[in-house]
Amino acid sequence: MLSIKMTILGIETSCDETAAAVVQDGQLLLSNTVASSMNEHARYGGIVPEIAARKQLETISSVIHQALKDASCSWKDLDGIAVSYGPGLGGSLLIGVMTARTLALVHKKPLYAVNHVTAHVYVNFLTETRLPEYKMAGRPPEFPLLAIIVSGGHSQLVLFYSHTHYQVLGHTRDDAIGEAFDKVAKLLGLPYPGGPSIERTALVGDPFAFSLPKAKMDYLDFSFSGLKTAVLRLAQAQIGKDYSFPSIKLAERLSESQKADIAASFQRVAIEAITDKAREAFEEFAPKSVAIAGGVAASQELRHKLSSTLPYSPLYPDPKLCTDNGAMVATLGCYQASLGQAPADPYTLAIQPNLSM
Ligand code: KG4
Ligand code: ZN
Repeated sequence: MLSIKMTILGIETSCDETAAAVVQDGQLLLSNTVASSMNEHARYGGIVPEIAARKQLETISSVIHQALKDASCSWKDLDGIAVSYGPGLGGSLLIGVMTARTLALVHKKPLYAVNHVTAHVYVNFLTETRLPEYKMAGRPPEFPLLAIIVSGGHSQLVLFYSHTHYQVLGHTRDDAIGEAFDKVAKLLGLPYPGGPSIERTALVGDPFAFSLPKAKMDYLDFSFSGLKTAVLRLAQAQIGKDYSFPSIKLAERLSESQKADIAASFQRVAIEAITDKAREAFEEFAPKSVAIAGGVAASQELRHKLSSTLPYSPLYPDPKLCTDNGAMVATLGCYQASLGQAPADPYTLAIQPNLSM
């Protein structure tokens, strides 16, 4: 196993979270501070990029200060700074990258540019913490590792043969699963972010109340846009209207029990789409471990369904480490530094909003 001896500050600002964390040796979580502008976006039913970037700017300094304080770390204790440079919202990414570049220069630390999507997987390598509110797996994943990445911006299955060699097995052809949760929640008049509010509403609904279509995709790809449209048509039909009835007026016409049944049926089918493909990938590649990552990995329903679908239980990160955070960035930064990856130039590192794995 790779021996890592370093302490890294991770900075994450790719969407609406402003986050910083300190990770030691790629496995010990020392601190994890997250400020979110989520409430500011709730009344718009989704992220407003300008508001997200302005909030990032307002909070970044205090978030980094708090992460260092919670870790009892001073600048001289750090071996480097890691930052998400893409993918994400341009304005938001800029705040994190410019801050990290400046701090790297001022404090003379190497700067590591981290891919946000890959970083989501790396919380699974965190095995210890002194922070009482976090529950850690206690053991790191083994290679080959099948990573099920399910977030607001991404849905993909990735097979890691090692830290430096991976293969994207399949990805979404349209919406990400988290995006589908957010849009269906908006249609049902449930608060943003949609994942947790659909999960709550579905608790009192019947997951088999309605049959919704599961996209038949080639190989290990996903598609969620047809399911989203099917939910819209179902909701219109439930109140006796046709496709021309505006989606924005549906929530006020649907009863609470109709909403709960639609939420539960949608959640079942969306999650089955992931678990079906995960099982196919598992059967073909026989990975030594399976890990889930990204905001939707916080879903209890996904966790239950995966555990009952796969021959052994995947690694489940603490739900607080599934949504965007600095710990994932710091952990991947530790690995990149230890594997000898050249640091980024603090004078020129640019954001890459469309970066892929
Ligand atoms: O990873 P993340 O914080 O941001 C991106 O990189 O996209 O993921 C955010 C997504 C949102 O779409 C949110 O609705 C979803 O994660 N999410 C959930 C749950 N918690 C957050 N989806 C399903 N169930 C949850 N409990
Ligand atoms: Zn993310």
